[in-house]
Amino acid sequence: MSEQTTATESATAAKSGASATERFRSDKSSAAQTSPERVDLLAREVLSAVHETIRKNQVTYDEYNALKSWLISVGEDGEWPLFLDVFVEHVVEDVATAHRSGNKGSIEGPYYVPGAPEIGASGTVPMREGESGTPLVWTGTITSTDGSPLAGGQVEIWHADADGFYSQFAPGLPEWNLRARITTGDDGAFEITTVRPAPYQIPTDGATGKLIAAANWHAWRPAHIHVKVSAPGHETLTAQLYFPGDEHNDDDIASAVKPELMLDPKPAADGNGEQLVYDFVLDPEQS
Ligand code: DHB
Ligand code: FE
Repeated sequence: MSEQTTATESATAAKSGASATERFRSDKSSAAQTSPERVDLLAREVLSAVHETIRKNQVTYDEYNALKSWLISVGEDGEWPLFLDVFVEHVVEDVATAHRSGNKGSIEGPYYVPGAPEIGASGTVPMREGESGTPLVWTGTITSTDGSPLAGGQVEIWHADADGFYSQFAPGLPEWNLRARITTGDDGAFEITTVRPAPYQIPTDGATGKLIAAANWHAWRPAHIHVKVSAPGHETLTAQLYFPGDEHNDDDIASAVKPELMLDPKPAADGNGEQLVYDFVLDPEQS
């Protein structure tokens, strides 16, 4: 990689972290809904796990101060959404969806934006002229757990480009690049045309990257397509879909890969890129 490329990527990555904080602040709810009893219980248990780690590992004042300094920079760098979504969200997602008998989900991550352009039941995701990456045509259906097709179902799709960057978080990309919403008709079917995303490296230039380097970990996530699938009367499924053979499928830094989330792309019948089938089964809302 040339020095020029590295400089461009790190400037972009730093901006992505701060944008994720703004996005989170603007549309996610706050601690106001958590009861004092739950705050008391959870805060006590988390602190007690920290105390236990300190005793067990004989943590020094130098190490305590390094932690303090690092925690301060996570906030200053605007990286709490990135850090939490990479290292914590996967367990929250497991707990939240354990009861489902429909599709398996995965973490939302920090880069979802509601309100992407609608492209109908069959369409092409907004992209630049000559967008890099293998063309991909994805057909599928949305059904309920009883097998009935779901009309008026939506698939919101968002993914990184062939350089691993997300529109609205990395600068210089059209607003809705590689973000769209499809809506199913009576047969619950959809067809989405897009391009294959690249593996994604979580920003290495901020506090999260410093932790990763200090611990001698790597910063990679396998290439993935994000989706949010919804239909009237059904639980919304948030998932990420992956490509077989990606070298990071087995060691995703965000621990968000599951075997059920693996796509099966084949060479396209018309010789242009790849095609694949992946269906969604949604659980009816619990009453
Ligand atoms: C992060 C980025 C992603 O694209 C994702 O899916 C999960 C986490 C991150 O940088 O934190
Ligand atoms: Fe992602």
